[in-house]
Amino acid sequence: MHSYPPLNVSVSTPRLELRGATDDLLEELVPLVRAGLADASPPPFDDPMSLYEPDPDVRVQKWLQGIWRGRGSVTSDFWRLNLVVLIDDHPSGIQDIIGTSFDTYGTAVTFSWLSADLRGRGLGREMREAALHLCFEGFGAAEASSEAFLDNIGSNRVSEALGYERNGTTWATRRGQSEQMQRWCITREHWLPARRSDITMTGVEACKQALSQKP
Ligand SMILES: CC(C)(COP(=O)(O)OP(=O)(O)OC[C@H]1O[C@@H](n2cnc3c(N)ncnc32)[C@H](O)[C@@H]1OP(=O)(O)O)[C@@H](O)C(=O)NCCC(=O)NCCS
Repeated sequence: MHSYPPLNVSVSTPRLELRGATDDLLEELVPLVRAGLADASPPPFDDPMSLYEPDPDVRVQKWLQGIWRGRGSVTSDFWRLNLVVLIDDHPSGIQDIIGTSFDTYGTAVTFSWLSADLRGRGLGREMREAALHLCFEGFGAAEASSEAFLDNIGSNRVSEALGYERNGTTWATRRGQSEQMQRWCITREHWLPARRSDITMTGVEACKQALSQKP
């Protein structure tokens, strides 16, 4: 058990586990980040993004610093919960949940990457379903959203397949180039009929309280 409750969260599905991103788990993801396995083509992330750093050492350094900064600045106004994706107990990706004034609005945004060698087997969808379970069942969210560049087929398809609705478009840069993004959202009402009964969670209540601390 860690003294910082967000590190103790665990969400388990039959195929994978999301677990609070401890430094030990992050260290196990470092080889993937170093090898460029978090990235994709066409570029999937909006700027600024440490994972685009060309030098592998700088990439790892900035990626870790970004996670530590986020961990150190969690308040009820804004938090980012970093969860490591474990497949067969191996750290294989990241599934984040981001809340802005979550206690007021009940809205959360998800972000993820999965090691390139494991994509296309339904694991991205399973990660997102686990994240939605934590958002709605665990944290009592009213709505969850996601966005992806129009040519990010995997991410957009995961949103569509899970019953998200299109929620307009927005613009962002990736590697300095301006590109359009599709926005998606799913309400609690739309998620409930698809709610899975084979997902279990631990450490949620203490984590929720930590994310609710006023600045
Ligand atoms: C987005 C991501 C997590 C999805 O994970 P994944 O394991 O590849 O996704 P899944 O295997 O669950 O596939 C989900 C759906 O997308 C489809 N899909 C995934 N990649 C695809 C591709 N390159 N071309 C066509 N379809 C694709 C699958 O066929 C599946 O569709 P279905 O539900 O109709 O069967 C993963 O691709 C990834 O890490 N990408 C790079 C980082 C990224 O884009 N992050 C999101 C930033 S917004």
